[in-house]
Amino acid sequence: MDAAALEREGLAAVASAATPEELDGVRVEYLGRKSTLKLALRDVRDRESGLELNAIRERLEEAVEAREDELRSAVLDRRLTEEVLDVTLPGEERHLGTLHPTTLTRRVIEDAFLGLGYEVIDDREVETVHYNFDQLAFGPAHPSRSHRDTFFLDPERLLRTETSPSQIHVMEAKKPPIYMVSLGRVYRRDEITATRFPIFHQFEGLAVDRNITLADLKGTLLHVMRTLFGEHRQVRFRTHYFPFTEPSLEPDVSCPICEMEGCRTCKYTGWIELGGAGMVDPRVFSNVGIDPEEWTGFAFGCGIERAAQLRHGIPEIRPFWENDLRVLRQF
Ligand code: DAH
Repeated sequence: MDAAALEREGLAAVASAATPEELDGVRVEYLGRKSTLKLALRDVRDRESGLELNAIRERLEEAVEAREDELRSAVLDRRLTEEVLDVTLPGEERHLGTLHPTTLTRRVIEDAFLGLGYEVIDDREVETVHYNFDQLAFGPAHPSRSHRDTFFLDPERLLRTETSPSQIHVMEAKKPPIYMVSLGRVYRRDEITATRFPIFHQFEGLAVDRNITLADLKGTLLHVMRTLFGEHRQVRFRTHYFPFTEPSLEPDVSCPICEMEGCRTCKYTGWIELGGAGMVDPRVFSNVGIDPEEWTGFAFGCGIERAAQLRHGIPEIRPFWENDLRVLRQF
């Protein structure tokens, strides 16, 4: 074998290997166990040709190593140029949710009362007959006590029909003065119509202090209505009946849809009914152990969806519960 020719041939093969895989093939061919060089080294008899062949082996090994480094960095260079990260490309779009219109209005109401120094309460939805009716002085034959109007879980427990039981829980737990607002869901066995839904939200306010008058009630409601519907809002009262207030009143708010010009929402009266209110009945105070000779109070309750409908000009209550994203995304 011509050793010099073998070396030349090997070095040429190393130089022309274009990938790490090709180079591996070259290494096996020229330096592997069955390569001409290794077989010749095994059969070598004299010192001189041993030295020569080993020198060739070393040079070939160095050449392979050097070529390996070249090829590796070529691969790296290619990846670095091909796999660039373009930070100017638009990112993946994130779909953010929006707050439900009921929640938005609820927060406006909460903020209005927090600003007045009221405590905001989140009360239970499963109530007892005792708290939902008896303590609020509902008469034994009041129609709300029937299964036709109210969802009963068993003879004693029901889904609250109003947020008014919160008044009782708070007055039992705290001594006056009390300023609280309770917001949450209430349930009634109503058919679904444009204006009624068997589940809806109310907010319930209660103030108990010395020398509270109807003027305090009116001023408080006026403040909240103006926060909800704008500074020009007016509030008026009509007399009404609720078991737990005396006198009982229904507040009207000047129509925010037509500014009292007359429209379908206010039935061309310029005024919109908005919940119930009154001075806390002395019997209710006695039920919770508050002395009606010393303390006075007012209370009110109002639908949150109804307030949201007026704020956004939504004619029906149904969209608040259907949760159609095409509607909700608008808020
Ligand atoms: N609970 C009554 C209802 O759901 C509303 C109401 C009326 C609440 C008078 C009150 C009140 O606190 O004093 O129709």
